[in-house]
Amino acid sequence: MSSLAQFFTSWASTIQSSYGVNPWIFIVIYLATLPFTWWLFFLIVFSLKDKKYSKAGYFIVLELILLALPYLYLLIYMQNIHWLIRVAVVILIFWSFVSLRKRLLRKQNDWDDIAKDYDSISNISKAHKEKIGYVSELATKNSPKTILDLGCGSGVIEKKLDEMGYRGEVTSLDSSEEMLKIAKKHSYKNFKPNFIYQDLNAQLPFREEKFDSIIMVNVLFCLRDQKSFLESVNKLLTTDGSFVLVNPKPIPTTANFFSEHFKGLNLVGKIREIGRVIINIPGLIHLLVFQNKLDSQEKNKDSYDYKDKDELATLLKGAGLLVEKVEEIQANQNWLFYCKKA
Ligand SMILES: C[S@@+](CC[C@H](N)C(=O)[O-])C[C@H]1O[C@@H](n2cnc3c(N)ncnc32)[C@H](O)[C@@H]1O
Repeated sequence: MSSLAQFFTSWASTIQSSYGVNPWIFIVIYLATLPFTWWLFFLIVFSLKDKKYSKAGYFIVLELILLALPYLYLLIYMQNIHWLIRVAVVILIFWSFVSLRKRLLRKQNDWDDIAKDYDSISNISKAHKEKIGYVSELATKNSPKTILDLGCGSGVIEKKLDEMGYRGEVTSLDSSEEMLKIAKKHSYKNFKPNFIYQDLNAQLPFREEKFDSIIMVNVLFCLRDQKSFLESVNKLLTTDGSFVLVNPKPIPTTANFFSEHFKGLNLVGKIREIGRVIINIPGLIHLLVFQNKLDSQEKNKDSYDYKDKDELATLLKGAGLLVEKVEEIQANQNWLFYCKKA
C-alpha cells in the first residue's frame, strides 16, 4: 500500500474509533473544503495587505464557516450524543442558511437594507450599549433643553435618553426610512422624539443656535463635505452648547470587540451570550457583506471617508469647536470627541 493510502486508512480508523462516524464522509467534506480554505486564507492576507479590513473580516467569517463544516458533520452523527443536540444542530444549520440566503438576496445598497440587523446587533452588543449609555450621559451633562441627534438610525440613543428619564425636546434626523420606522416603533415614556427624514448632505432646516446638545454617532464618515457639515453643527449650537461626535477608526479592531463582550461574565452568562451570538450569525454576516459592499461602492464615489483622530481634531477646531475630551470607545473601535462651542 502506498504511504498516501496508508495515511488515509490510518486517519479513517482513528476517526472511526474516536467518533464512531463514517470516516470517509468526514474526510471527503474535509478535503472538499480544503482548497477553498486555502483560497480564502490568501484572500484574507491580500485584503489585510491592501488595508481592506471589512473585506478581510468578511473572508474570515467565511473561512471559519468552512473550517467548521466537517466538525458539524461530527456533531450530528457522532455516537453518544443526545438526539436533541443532533436535532438542534440540524435546525440551526438549516435556519442559518435560509435566513442568510433571504438577507443576501436583498439588494444591499443602502442603510434601509440593513436596518433590522443593525438594530438587533446594536441591542445585543455590550460595546454598543456601553457606548450609547456613555454618549447619552455626556450629551445630557449640562441639562440641555433641546437635543439634536444627527443620523439617529434605529433610535438607540432616543431609547437610552428615555430610560434615563430625559424630558426635553429631541429632534432626530436620518435618511433611511427603514431605520426611522424602527425608531418610531418604540414607545417613549418621558418625551416624544421628533423623527425627521433628512439627508445630512443637504442643508439642515434649522435656525442658528437652536440646540443645547448635538450628538452624531458613527455617521460623519458617510458625509461628503465633513468640514462644512461641522461648521453648520457649530452654528446650530447655543452659546454654551456641547457636541458629542463618535466616528469609526479607519482601522477597526474586531478582536477587542469580542473579548470585551464576554469579559466579566460567569459560565452561565458566557453560555447565554455564545447562544445569542450564534443565533445572530446570519445578521452579523449580513452586516459584514453590507459594509464591504457599501465601502467599496462609496469609496468609488469618493464619499465614505474614515478620518483618524488628528484629522478629526483639526476639522473640529477648524469648524470653531473647542475639543474638551478625546477617548477611544466601543472596544477601541471608535473615537469619541466631546466639544463645546468656542
Ligand atoms: C452606523 S449607523 C449609526 C446609527 C446611529 N447613530 C447609531 O449609533 O446607532 C449610520 C446611520 O447614518 C445614516 N446616514 C448615512 N448617511 C446619511 C445621510 N447622508 N443623511 C442622513 N443620514 C445618513 C444611516 O441611515 C444610518 O442610520
